[in-house]
Amino acid sequence: MSKLRLGVNIDHVATVRNARGEGYPDPVRAAEMALAAGADGITAHLREDRRHISDVDIDALALITKRRGRPLNLEMAVTREMEAIALAHRPHAACLVPERREEVTTEGGLDVVKGHNAITPVVRRLADAGIRVSCFIDPDLAQVAASQSAGAQVVELHTGAYCQAVRERSPDAGALLENLKAAAREAARLGLEVHAGHGIDYETVKPIAAIPELMELNIGHFLIGEAIFIGLGPAIQRMRALMDEARSHANSDPEFARFLAK
Ligand code: PXP
Repeated sequence: MSKLRLGVNIDHVATVRNARGEGYPDPVRAAEMALAAGADGITAHLREDRRHISDVDIDALALITKRRGRPLNLEMAVTREMEAIALAHRPHAACLVPERREEVTTEGGLDVVKGHNAITPVVRRLADAGIRVSCFIDPDLAQVAASQSAGAQVVELHTGAYCQAVRERSPDAGALLENLKAAAREAARLGLEVHAGHGIDYETVKPIAAIPELMELNIGHFLIGEAIFIGLGPAIQRMRALMDEARSHANSDPEFARFLAK
């Protein structure tokens, strides 16, 4: 199994900044610290309502990630405005996400089955500009197939339902993890690179990281919260260590991988 990359989402540093309309804490400083602490890349979501990350943040994040030769993953809604911003910056990756103004966070995956005709040309234009495009989808086989036929190179599987079930000690957690595993298998079979993210914490990261097809996790809210108590660098390092532990156990002991996946 290959090493699992960690993308750190710094949106919620900007949430805290914007709560007071001040210039601090600075998400760009957080991105620098995250890279220094072992993050493989930076993820940021420029929402249409600019509730956290701003256009100026994206300008600065694009600059520092390019300067350091590290990937920036721009999460974006499928709109003309966001497409123009992505094309202007040409980040390493763009992750297409659904967006509703009234939602607290990205509550579900992009419906690529329903939006296939609208999404396909956007994927093509971004890909033609050299941007690696991913679709953020629920772990559903039809969504995986639609993402591949829309031309995406990557799918990011929405782990939110599974993570919430674990936190609530719901009996559904096992079945939700099975859905993630089946979607990851199918995506890899179709030649897609597979990522995962949303709602991941220290407890849920290990069963997710043990899914062998995954190449990258994108984690934000929990890490920024944990940073209040132990600092951003140590929080990232602990997450990284748990990911590596899950991978190395799964590599050396298939029984353990099965145990984790239960
Ligand atoms: N991946 C995607 C596509 C997302 O939209 C988000 C949330 O912005 C994340 C990962 C990170 O989720 P969380 O902040 O819950 O860790």
